[in-house]
Amino acid sequence: MKVIWNDQIVDRSEVKIDMEDRGYQFADGIYDVVRAYNGHFFTLDEHVDRFFSGMSKIDLEAPFTKDELKSRLKELIEINKIETGNVYFQITRGIASPRDHIFPDPTDVPPVFTASTTVVPRNQVKMTKGITASIVPDTRWLHCDIKSVSLLGNILAKHTAHKKGFDEAVLHRDGIVTECSSSNMWMVKDGTVYTHPDGNLILPGITKIVLLKAAEKAGIPVKEETFTLEDLKQADEAFSSSTTVEAMPIIEIDGVAVGQGKRGPVVEKLQQHFVAEIEAQCGSLTVTN
Ligand code: PDD
Repeated sequence: MKVIWNDQIVDRSEVKIDMEDRGYQFADGIYDVVRAYNGHFFTLDEHVDRFFSGMSKIDLEAPFTKDELKSRLKELIEINKIETGNVYFQITRGIASPRDHIFPDPTDVPPVFTASTTVVPRNQVKMTKGITASIVPDTRWLHCDIKSVSLLGNILAKHTAHKKGFDEAVLHRDGIVTECSSSNMWMVKDGTVYTHPDGNLILPGITKIVLLKAAEKAGIPVKEETFTLEDLKQADEAFSSSTTVEAMPIIEIDGVAVGQGKRGPVVEKLQQHFVAEIEAQCGSLTVTN
């Protein structure tokens, strides 16, 4: 498999990550994940915009333009013949020795960029049947809008849910639902869809943007407003969203059914509109997709 390593496309085995890479030592970096369907990127511009915005939030100067990055990523999926799959890409503040909390001078220390691909089919069974979740306190930092490679808070939450046999962790701060460990969180009550507003407490999801537009097209009212764990208990439907899971029904939370305990009509309608948007950008989705 070929990967991008700085400005080259190389075999994965050729990549050497330095032990003093600041990504490795400090989690001093930004990442993103973008999906391809039928060999075409979905919402690539939005992902690249968020990646650049993340870099600027941590004062990391991009070594390439947005267009250069996009064409490199396109080259990679072509070389690896990715039809339906994910591209993971990340940038760190480079290799600085000796270890020092202070940022190195960017003129002396270039960032390190890597990107890799994986073939990941759409999980239509899960998208129909839904997943389970567990409520976990959100103990992450206060810059959750930055897609930082430091995901310790997220993976600890996911692990807590997984240990108990649940698929995803629904995070809350003082009873207010923020998002999930690796996706945004939504609930439906009396036909209205609720999701946490963007800000420093959640990641501004790209799938969220697509779903907000889908809801508008479908005439489904949406409120980007906070909701509580109590509200969630009374919800008719719940679902999470991300690049990898699209709109994923959550049918059970901590062993208690959400609404009817199966995919509800609102998320199903949003999924239909989501597929229409994929098809508009990437072409028809066949059964195998
Ligand atoms: N995760 N919130 C968190 C904490 C996330 O990690 C993600 C995505 C999202 C949804 O963002 P988007 O719709 O842009 O994928 C929300 C990615 C997929 C990951 O870390 O693999």
